[in-house]
Amino acid sequence: MARLSGKRIFITGAAQGIGLAIARACIAEDAAVFLVDRDAALLESVAGELAKDGARIGHQAADITDAAAISAAVAKAGAEIGTINALINNAGVNVFSEPLETTDAEWDRCFDINLKGAWNCCKAVLPGIIEAGGGAILNIASTHAFTIIPHTFPYPLAKHALLGMTKSLGLEYAGRGVRVNAIAPGYVATQKVIDYWNGFDDPEAAKAETMKLHPGGRIATPEEIALAAVFMISDECPFMNATCLTIDGGLSVQQHPA
Ligand SMILES: NC(=O)c1ccc[n+]([C@@H]2O[C@H](COP(=O)([O-])OP(=O)(O)OC[C@H]3O[C@@H](n4cnc5c(N)ncnc54)[C@H](O)[C@@H]3O)[C@@H](O)[C@H]2O)c1
Repeated sequence: MARLSGKRIFITGAAQGIGLAIARACIAEDAAVFLVDRDAALLESVAGELAKDGARIGHQAADITDAAAISAAVAKAGAEIGTINALINNAGVNVFSEPLETTDAEWDRCFDINLKGAWNCCKAVLPGIIEAGGGAILNIASTHAFTIIPHTFPYPLAKHALLGMTKSLGLEYAGRGVRVNAIAPGYVATQKVIDYWNGFDDPEAAKAETMKLHPGGRIATPEEIALAAVFMISDECPFMNATCLTIDGGLSVQQHPA
């Protein structure tokens, strides 16, 4: 028995990385998916590849900071795969700086994408989910939602707020069958992390340093995050609401590496 039959899932940032791994895992469990990403060319190619394998899939290039474009994408999703009953707010970007060096433009970009963008998507899908009697929202937060790494300002502030929004919406709509949860990944092997390592003078040394921080000596794969996403969007955890699942191999509970 497939675990996501009857789910029609709107996934943002789905053209690569964690979002794409989640899309693949949802399709494998019989969900219909609607993929959104601002990288139109990559999205087109990924959607074409997934459709070839017979997936029930729609897609739309859109920037999650554009509320009108997201509303239109949700309407298109409804026409193509049926009214959305699950949302995975995955699109996000690193904006890392030192607090006093952070420009207003960096601050705005960080909050516009990592917080307001997720809210734009919630706002667009929630009326349909509520009218249909319920559904699920999953926000991809980060261990930055409750821990701080110096010089990564203001990204952790936006992820803290995303966790706050998870709790707020989870409480607000619990009585109407909506569950709102978050996943907090630690480091995950995606382009974003490779770009982060490439920002150091010695990327290989930076990568080795990251691995050494982890109790198991490695970071997560996107597929390992997707396994949890399928569970949290499925009906296997009907009373899980307004909470956050950390997936970081134990990184955030260790006092310091051995
Ligand atoms: N990779 C990690 O180590 C890690 C750790 C913790 C949390 N996260 C979170 O997981 C999510 C996915 O991260 P990833 O590593 O897969 O990233 P990624 O950079 O590999 O992929 C992100 C995708 O989102 C898209 N995107 C970015 N901004 C967008 C916007 N405004 N509108 C529409 N699409 C947009 C990009 O085009 C890209 O295809 C992010 O929210 C990130 O903060 C990642």
